[in-house]
Amino acid sequence: MTDRHSIDFLAKSPADRPPESQSALVCSASERYGTDGIDRCFDLAGCCATQPSYFTTRSRINFALERWLSPAELSDRLAELPAHFTSPQPRRWQRVDWNAIGPEQIVGVDPEFFLHIVRASAEVEAPIRAYSQISWHQLARLHPEMARYMGGTHDSSGRLIEPGLWEKEERQHAPAFKRIYRQLCGRDPHLVPNTILLPPTFATVDASYCHAISRIATE
Ligand SMILES: [Fe+2]
Repeated sequence: MTDRHSIDFLAKSPADRPPESQSALVCSASERYGTDGIDRCFDLAGCCATQPSYFTTRSRINFALERWLSPAELSDRLAELPAHFTSPQPRRWQRVDWNAIGPEQIVGVDPEFFLHIVRASAEVEAPIRAYSQISWHQLARLHPEMARYMGGTHDSSGRLIEPGLWEKEERQHAPAFKRIYRQLCGRDPHLVPNTILLPPTFATVDASYCHAISRIATE
């Protein structure tokens, strides 16, 4: 079983990295820094074990939940949302080392089942343009700023001029899931088209509310 000391140290934020003496619990200095000095034992889920087990994976999940889904983190995102209505600022992704993803990292779950989850996640993300335009229709009258954030700006004939900030972020997700899938099994996923019909009219308040709830549930 993973010892208590190890769990405590994994619960720290990446900004508060442990000294090498503690990181040696899961990786050696040469494994951690390689020959180029790049720290490869930490990512967004904390410390990467060189030999993943149920417990190290569990610790990484706990770390990610506590760090990225904390009330402080989410409140911060919510507080800055109005600023994106007037001045949309895309978030930059941290560099992803896609080649470091491999099937040996699937731990404690049937690999085929995990691949199925990744493929389904990619399908949910596409086609993102249709999704974003549905949100625009649902929100345009109730909350024009949020509609623009989700579905972009349109000219007087309803033609999309500039995609919304939400779409610009979201359109990166399906390719990311596809890349993960390819890394895990060496082939591209077969995605079933997820076509959505646009509503012919603007939504009522009740329909907008249901739409918002369904979007939150999907996330
Ligand atoms: Fe997404």
